[in-house]
Amino acid sequence: MDLKHSRSVKLNDGHLMPRLGFGTAASGDVPKSKSYEFTKVAIDAGFRHFDSAFIYGNEEQVGEAIREKIADGTVKREDVFYTTKLWATHFRPEFVRPALEKSLKKLQMDYVDLIIIHLPVPMKPGDELIPMDDKGQFILDTVDLRDTWEVECHVYLNQSKLLEYCKSKDIALVAYSALGSQRDPSWVDQNSPVLLEDPVLKAIAKKRNRTPGQVALRYLLQRGVVVLAKSFNEKRIKENMQIFEFELTAEDMKDIDGINKNLRYTTLQYAANHPNYPFNEEY
Ligand SMILES: NC(=O)c1ccc[n+]([C@@H]2O[C@H](COP(=O)([O-])OP(=O)(O)OC[C@H]3O[C@@H](n4cnc5c(N)ncnc54)[C@H](OP(=O)(O)O)[C@@H]3O)[C@@H](O)[C@H]2O)c1
Repeated sequence: MDLKHSRSVKLNDGHLMPRLGFGTAASGDVPKSKSYEFTKVAIDAGFRHFDSAFIYGNEEQVGEAIREKIADGTVKREDVFYTTKLWATHFRPEFVRPALEKSLKKLQMDYVDLIIIHLPVPMKPGDELIPMDDKGQFILDTVDLRDTWEVECHVYLNQSKLLEYCKSKDIALVAYSALGSQRDPSWVDQNSPVLLEDPVLKAIAKKRNRTPGQVALRYLLQRGVVVLAKSFNEKRIKENMQIFEFELTAEDMKDIDGINKNLRYTTLQYAANHPNYPFNEEY
């Protein structure tokens, strides 16, 4: 897997995944039309990787935006990397295909580039979709689900151990909430620190003449992580696209390593008592 030399990561099947992706999930009070509007802005700004999911309820709008940008000649379908996710109520083998077909219908597309098993919390040994061992861990060697793992990852949860593991298994680690999330009260504890206000991040941003958001994203990129960034603001979308234009020094990287707190913004408290709750694991 080539992580260093291009704007894309080569997955095990030869498919190229752009290393910067556009997050399309927004809190419930944001109209779905914003996903349509800002997916188009993101394509114009240069984004080619789009992260959505059945449960985001915006595949119709994201699909429409992508199709319009294909129709007006801005992009070709093969240049766009589109991720959908199979929601937890669709894991039974007989539900998988109809659920994915529903996404394709909403998108009005012939195919998606990646399907992620969304929230694999309720899965247990014996489930057919993803074989697991008796400790509830995925059995990586028996099924080809190794290409990508999308997890929370940012300067406060830098996932260094998981990243090392993923690299050793040729798995692309995709970071969500790379900017510290939206602090949506329905899933983020409002008392948690605001990542983009971190003094170390702000000082490095000032020194490099960049914004804290750009530094937070660039840090992940330089460690070989594929980064998702959600923004429904044209200025910030363009800003996020500029992370390929500068480099952090080894000293910057070390300083940012130092602010890791193993702090998770999305803790899924409602599932905390589930036997397969994933976030009690070390990584
Ligand atoms: N697989 C999963 O279970 C999972 C879970 C969570 C998220 N995700 C995916 O990951 C994506 C991103 O994660 P996230 O939505 O939690 O949020 P995020 O990308 O960490 O942060 C988004 C927030 O940062 C702001 N922002 C964007 N660019 C900025 C910049 N340059 N400077 C300052 N602020 C900036 C945005 O505001 P504006 O919009 O106003 O710019 C928004 O409030 C989601 O949209 C979704 O696609 C996946």
